[in-house]
Amino acid sequence: MARPSFQAAPGTRDLISPTTDRWRAFVALFAEEASSSGFGQIVPPMFEDMSVFTRLGEASDVVSKELYDFVDKGDRHLALRPEFTASVCRAFAENRQLTPWKVWYAGPAFRYDKPQKGRYRQFEQVGAEVIGSNDPDLDVELIAMAARFYERLGLTDVTLQLNTLGDASDRPGYLDALRAYFEANLDALSEQSRVTLQTNPLRVLDSKRPQDAPLIEGAPLITDHLSDEAEAAFERVKAGLMALNIEFTLTPRLVRGLDYYTRTAFEFVAGSLDSAQTAVGGGGRYDGLVANLGGPDEPGVGFALGIDRTLLACDASGVFPEPDTTVDVWVVATTGGLDGLEIADELRRAGLAVDRSFDHRSMKAQMKAANRSGAPVAVIIGADEAAAATVSVRPLLDDRDQVVVPRAEMLATIKELLPS
Ligand code: HAM
Repeated sequence: MARPSFQAAPGTRDLISPTTDRWRAFVALFAEEASSSGFGQIVPPMFEDMSVFTRLGEASDVVSKELYDFVDKGDRHLALRPEFTASVCRAFAENRQLTPWKVWYAGPAFRYDKPQKGRYRQFEQVGAEVIGSNDPDLDVELIAMAARFYERLGLTDVTLQLNTLGDASDRPGYLDALRAYFEANLDALSEQSRVTLQTNPLRVLDSKRPQDAPLIEGAPLITDHLSDEAEAAFERVKAGLMALNIEFTLTPRLVRGLDYYTRTAFEFVAGSLDSAQTAVGGGGRYDGLVANLGGPDEPGVGFALGIDRTLLACDASGVFPEPDTTVDVWVVATTGGLDGLEIADELRRAGLAVDRSFDHRSMKAQMKAANRSGAPVAVIIGADEAAAATVSVRPLLDDRDQVVVPRAEMLATIKELLPS
């Protein structure tokens, strides 16, 4: 067979049923979890003015290397969103909602990263953000929401890594200490990290290069540079998590891939994933971001979970399988008239899932299709049934007999035969 002339672009792929059915169920479950905690949905645009995203901090790869940016026909410099938090803050600044403003979202995000298993250029996130409250209990509630959601998926092998990045006012002292430490050990640092050190010493902690590991291991800790307020907030977060029996691992060098975090920062790591991409979700506080995007000086906190990667973790753990999408009834019609069309419509209006064959295929071919469909019941109408205003109703998954009933009794008969 000749190769198709087009393929999906690198890092993108087609999601096709039953995979899409599983994705819909995933988002529906997340929506349920979010609604039950008082969150409303937001659907922000998929692209924004480029500068909305550059405000996320130009030292991170997500902004400096991975943005899909373009100039539109009106000469605007735009970019596809690499995540949702910036758009949510921009939307808050623009629409001025009552605080605390609690929103959840689901949809695609775009990053020009090197594609590999679990890392795509178009991927999907679900997430939640709260703008307008400093209360560390909110950090706990958000983490709890994500943890409960993993539980509902059946994913038990997820570890919560927790850190604080302190307040903006704690940062200069810590950055000085980090800079001094790395500069004193420059020879041991990888070349890339030496470059990173110039723009943001904090990012060096995020280096995954083996050469940097021993140095990072001994680097100064933010916890030694915290203000009393930031420390008290972190204590409250830990106490809250313990009260809710949510286990966490303190990870003092967790800095996350985006630059906007202050105070609480966290990541969920799936033990069942053996690839390099094991982070299934993450989040934290971003207390200066709304003001940075032209809004009032309101704090924010949130998280996002990657759908693609979380489902890979579900596969590895054998949980949250594709939902059953077989129809209830298969209609077999050989009259050549409109019977098949009418019966399928009547049954669908009554709330049943119904499918049928097309193209006037033979009784044998239609019965084969009915059996292959997995539907528990077939409704059959041929010339005899049509003449007598009846239908034959045949159970397909067990050895109960086929019955012939008046057309008016078709629905009741099918309902009796369907598994409850
Ligand atoms: P993030 O850690 O960059 O955080 O992304 C969250 C999750 O999205 C990751 O843990 C991962 O599962 C998934 N993800 C990220 N990049 C890719 C990719 N290229 N392919 C597949 N999955 C990916 C954020 O996006 C923040 N906005 C989270 C947040 C919300 N912080 C505060 N509020």
